[in-house]
Amino acid sequence: MPNGITAIANRKPLSGLASSDTTPFDAAVLPIVTPLRIGDLVVDPPILQAPMAGYTNYAFRQIVRAYGGAGLLATEMVNARGFIWMDREQAEHPDRLWGVADEPRPLAVQIWDNDPETLAAVGARLTHEYKVSVVDINFGCPVRQVTEKAHSGSYLLRTPDRMGQIIERVVAACHPTPVTAKTRLGCSRDKINIIDVAQIVEGAGAAALTVHGRTAADMFRGQASWDLISTIKPHLKRIPLIGNGDLDTAEKVVEAFRRWNVDGVMIARASLGKPWLFQQAAAALRGEPIPPDPTLEEERELMVEHFRLVCERFGEERGAVLMRKFACCYAQGRPGAREFRKHVVGIETAAEFFDVVEQWFPRSVV
Ligand SMILES: Cc1cc2nc3c(=O)[nH]c(=O)nc-3n(C[C@H](O)[C@H](O)[C@H](O)COP(=O)(O)O)c2cc1C
Repeated sequence: MPNGITAIANRKPLSGLASSDTTPFDAAVLPIVTPLRIGDLVVDPPILQAPMAGYTNYAFRQIVRAYGGAGLLATEMVNARGFIWMDREQAEHPDRLWGVADEPRPLAVQIWDNDPETLAAVGARLTHEYKVSVVDINFGCPVRQVTEKAHSGSYLLRTPDRMGQIIERVVAACHPTPVTAKTRLGCSRDKINIIDVAQIVEGAGAAALTVHGRTAADMFRGQASWDLISTIKPHLKRIPLIGNGDLDTAEKVVEAFRRWNVDGVMIARASLGKPWLFQQAAAALRGEPIPPDPTLEEERELMVEHFRLVCERFGEERGAVLMRKFACCYAQGRPGAREFRKHVVGIETAAEFFDVVEQWFPRSVV
């Protein structure tokens, strides 16, 4: 665990700036939330960090882990075919597996493809070589590159039986490591088939099902339908249901457990600019006061540490490019974010990054 990040995550809020914002949560409305079981793995608290391509790499995961509150972390989706090809041709593994071999557990690695054998071969490697905690299969990605071009991700919602074949094969290859599935409600609003899909996923031996409450055609438009997510649970006999979509505050996480019949929740976009959100949500679930957001000064330090971590792996040039989008996330919703974004999207070196952060990252108004 990188020391700088841990120190920042564990720091008490600077006096007078944010500590008074600590919000007590009304324990009287708390649902009964128990740890989630994915096979033999206990996910406690039952709040999962979502896989996000281009974002949930080792650096981001270390920050989430340092703050705490996420019961299970996930990598970016890894292309199974690419893994096999790289392994054979270049004796290398995908960048998206950066850190996976050595970082703390529990950790899920998500894989995608449409071929049961390819997915099973990669699942077996992840199980036996990398010793990951969970192998997750992507049945939800709506991006053309994955759907139309590779007939994978959410494209497979058209053929639930194929999903079942894939899961059965991967489960057999990964035993005893649990295999999970992440998907959407259906291909489009007029083709919602999540109940059928859920039963097939369970019947094929998956250990948990995560559902993002949108269809593939929705992409990210509109709101996630938690009412539809809640209809799934009565159709599952054995495995937990993890709901996902639009959770961006600790209060909404509590609400999801209270109202929507889920065993766990998964948070994606909101955590990019607020990796401490899991910690806040976990406190709220325990009925404890919600820890305040870090001050802007602390956030600035966190960004600098994040950048150092990224550079350690990718070098300064690639690290700077990669960091642009994370920096934009950190600034989101802050006063002066637009100005900061305008400058940070052009940085090419560490010196430029530090300079832009120093000059343009919003400061607290005291
Ligand atoms: C930039 C980005 C990348 C994503 N990459 C993945 C991915 O690799 N695998 C996956 O299953 N979902 C991926 N998702 C979807 C999220 O995991 C999640 O299902 C979705 O964003 C809804 O949750 P949210 O409202 O909390 O963001 C991605 C989403 C975003 C915004």
